[in-house]
Amino acid sequence: MISEKMEKAFLDQINKELYSEYLYLSMKAYFAKLNLNGFVNWMDIQVQEEHAHGMGMFDYVLERGGEVVLEAIEKPENDWKSPLDVFKHVLAHEQFVTERINALVDVAEETKDRAAMLFLNWYVKEQVEEEASVGAVLAQLELIGDDKLALLALDKELAQRQFNKPVIG
Ligand code: FEO
Repeated sequence: MISEKMEKAFLDQINKELYSEYLYLSMKAYFAKLNLNGFVNWMDIQVQEEHAHGMGMFDYVLERGGEVVLEAIEKPENDWKSPLDVFKHVLAHEQFVTERINALVDVAEETKDRAAMLFLNWYVKEQVEEEASVGAVLAQLELIGDDKLALLALDKELAQRQFNKPVIG
């Protein structure tokens, strides 16, 4: 059985993961408006990953005998100056999510919930990958600057990204 404190921490994080899904959906719409279909693909995969992250915790709380009560999802931003601006926002957001996952691990440690600690290891590792993959695109966008041809080449590269359903836990 999961403790009330741990359950609440998971429910807060489910909301953050579903907000992330919503945020990347909003970014996908921004790139669709620019006809940058590789970036659209990249965001679409991000949307699916965030959904999987949220659902992984949703299923876990139920599996531990907890109750899932969903809260409202905040309205995401929808106004960015450039692809670079978007990816700066993505990195800042992923760094925030990393902090939240670490806070969840803190609750698992405080409540001596070893099962939750083991489960959360997956998310800790996933955040390292998330920050690295976003950082790689951001670094390329910084190099590209105002070079439209280089931006189109990156767009082609991002069109190759494929979704692999995460196996969580
Ligand atoms: Fe669910 Fe992008 O972290």
